[in-house]
Amino acid sequence: MRAGSTEKKIEALLKELTLEEKARLVHASEYFRSGDVPRLGIPKITMSDGPMGVRNDFYPADWHPVGTTADAVSYLPCNSAIAATWNKELARTSGSVLGREARGRGKDMILAPGINIKRNPLCGRNFEYMSEDPCLIAEMVVPLIEGIQENDVSACVKHFACNAQEWERLWVNVELDERTLREIYLPGFEAAVRRAKTYGLMGSYNLVRGEHGSQSRFLLTKILREEWGYDGLVVSDWGAVHDTRAAAESGLDIEMGVTPDFDDYFLGRPLIEAVRKGEIAEAEVDKKVRHILRFMLRVRLIEIVQKEQKNGKGKMVAVPVADRDPGYYNGDIMHRYAKETAREAVILLKNEKHRLPVRPSQTRKLLVIGENANHLHANGGGSGEIKALYEVTPLMGLAREYGGNTEVKYVPGYYVPARLATDASWQEDSTAELMTDTKRRDGRKYDAREKALIKKYRDEAVALAKEYDDVVIVGGLNHDYDVEGMDRKDLSLPYGQDELIKAVLAVNPRAVVVMMAGSPVDMRAWKDDAQAILWMAYNGMEGGTALAEVISGTVNPSGKLPESLPAEFAQTPAAVCGDYPGRKLRAAEKKVMNAHLTQTFKEGVFVGYRYYEKFGVPLQFPFGHGLSYTEYKYSGLKVSKAPGALFEVQVKVKNTGHVSGKEAVQLYVGEKTVSEENPVKELKAFDKVELQPGEEKTLSFTLTERDFSHYCNEENCWKRMKGRMVIYVGASSADVRLKKEVTLS
Ligand code: BGC
Repeated sequence: MRAGSTEKKIEALLKELTLEEKARLVHASEYFRSGDVPRLGIPKITMSDGPMGVRNDFYPADWHPVGTTADAVSYLPCNSAIAATWNKELARTSGSVLGREARGRGKDMILAPGINIKRNPLCGRNFEYMSEDPCLIAEMVVPLIEGIQENDVSACVKHFACNAQEWERLWVNVELDERTLREIYLPGFEAAVRRAKTYGLMGSYNLVRGEHGSQSRFLLTKILREEWGYDGLVVSDWGAVHDTRAAAESGLDIEMGVTPDFDDYFLGRPLIEAVRKGEIAEAEVDKKVRHILRFMLRVRLIEIVQKEQKNGKGKMVAVPVADRDPGYYNGDIMHRYAKETAREAVILLKNEKHRLPVRPSQTRKLLVIGENANHLHANGGGSGEIKALYEVTPLMGLAREYGGNTEVKYVPGYYVPARLATDASWQEDSTAELMTDTKRRDGRKYDAREKALIKKYRDEAVALAKEYDDVVIVGGLNHDYDVEGMDRKDLSLPYGQDELIKAVLAVNPRAVVVMMAGSPVDMRAWKDDAQAILWMAYNGMEGGTALAEVISGTVNPSGKLPESLPAEFAQTPAAVCGDYPGRKLRAAEKKVMNAHLTQTFKEGVFVGYRYYEKFGVPLQFPFGHGLSYTEYKYSGLKVSKAPGALFEVQVKVKNTGHVSGKEAVQLYVGEKTVSEENPVKELKAFDKVELQPGEEKTLSFTLTERDFSHYCNEENCWKRMKGRMVIYVGASSADVRLKKEVTLS
């Protein structure tokens, strides 16, 4: 369809709508559907969470799952895991699974991906997000969204913007300077809009500069619509709209919520009344309806056709598109993609004395310790929860991988109390108080029975660890901690895991430790004693398979940290410079606009490694770090002028070891003499390359003006740097292998 004729059809259909009908379209009519206009054939838009797969179905106006067996789906690695692959192709295949399954389940929009910057390692939703680095996010989110949208279904990139904490998430007001916003918090969204052409975007709960993200004129109108030229759909977060006028006059299109009084939503009856009274121009509503109709055309939910009437005049109506992609779910290909991604998302943090791999042929007895080895994670975490068709736990993965010649024995090792905060309808209260649960969770006292269990589990694990040659401890966090609506209070490992791991390593120093978590945890109590440490975020339905294959050596690990792992919260920029968490607000304060809890992002652009490197903060493991069972040699760094860009950079990478593998090669840029206001270096490009033993390949990267620019607060624009700059190529932010100076005139 030609653009011109499409727009004409949208205008013609818009003209048929009454004000009441328009208002139906701009607010929810069910928890996961917008309103419809049956008279003109305009259907509801059907949405579903979320980042790790297509969430189970809910009743239209009751926060209880429908509960049939038909909504179990493929469970994908979470975004932190996808980012850990540093493999853009895997981001694309993950997107294609999400999109195909969303369509297969009859959805028009999947409420994913979540790409907020991991500013604060305590944020409960960090597992849903990718990274602390805007370049890694932007490069991964583009193929992910393209993969989703190949299936006549829309992505919904969220939460726009600066949603960096769950603590007081509805009321926290973020203040930050323009440079920090442009360089750190916006590039992922800008790439989603401009490069991936996302059809959908979700506003945030939090405020930015005094306006709630979901009704912000600054974010939604000025930046998104006017600067980036976005003409797609914007939905609010659920219950994130607080004012009819602000919402009507911002770039928002559809108000979604968590209460069943849909017609009383701010963009329901109050909107109609305000337009009638002349307080809000109907033209504002028309803008939203245009976006909504255009969205329906893009995902091929409708086409707009002329219908002949009895009086001979034509009238525009919407009709379903007959050959819309029907999608499907739970296909073998989805499980294969989930497995391929999971394999590359496992990160080998440490491997002294070549402790790993543990070949199945060389072990007769394998002891698996740790509740996380046997824990199903899919159905937790908040709106990212998934009813997984299946989930291979680490224990199942190891038992399968090692086979019948190896005795695989399991003991829990640490005790996890029954889940506290989840009943089926947690979302009903999700815009109310959730933080009380943090107190219940962290301040919980164990009763005598539980204390006895804790001791029994630990004693049993330590006693067995003495007898087994090969021991794998699987610990970390779970969705009681990596969860929507709550932040952690510190980075410590819960459930007495430090004591357990220390005690096991004391009797069996060869025990391998696996940490599963969506955010950093403090490993100092035992990190130096462990010979081998593996890291993986919630890694989808095949996560246990992937982990086992890495431990056995079937798969050579190639994941790299998409975030730095600081040891304690007190070392992090949000703690040192920022004012997180701040005090809790009183109920009365929440009713007053602009009297919100303010978080000033005082660290500015010094987020993650940009901060740690600048101020020499020692980390447990640095951004971009991840080992392999082979070695890679970097050589031949060449920088030349490139047509249409600033430079072309070439580098050779050779696999000098004995097994094939994949290496994520990282390119950073910084000033030769680093000025006070700039990070030492920043990631600008990366690529992952597969190499057989002895094989060498040349990688090429293109660097543009923007890669050497900073945003100038005074002049409000990007400015290219001048003088001596350094191009670094390395295996992590701390493992630079080659560098070359260039001069910018
Ligand atoms: C979350 C969103 C989610 C929505 C619908 C909100 O609580 O912040 O990410 O998509 O609920 O479940």
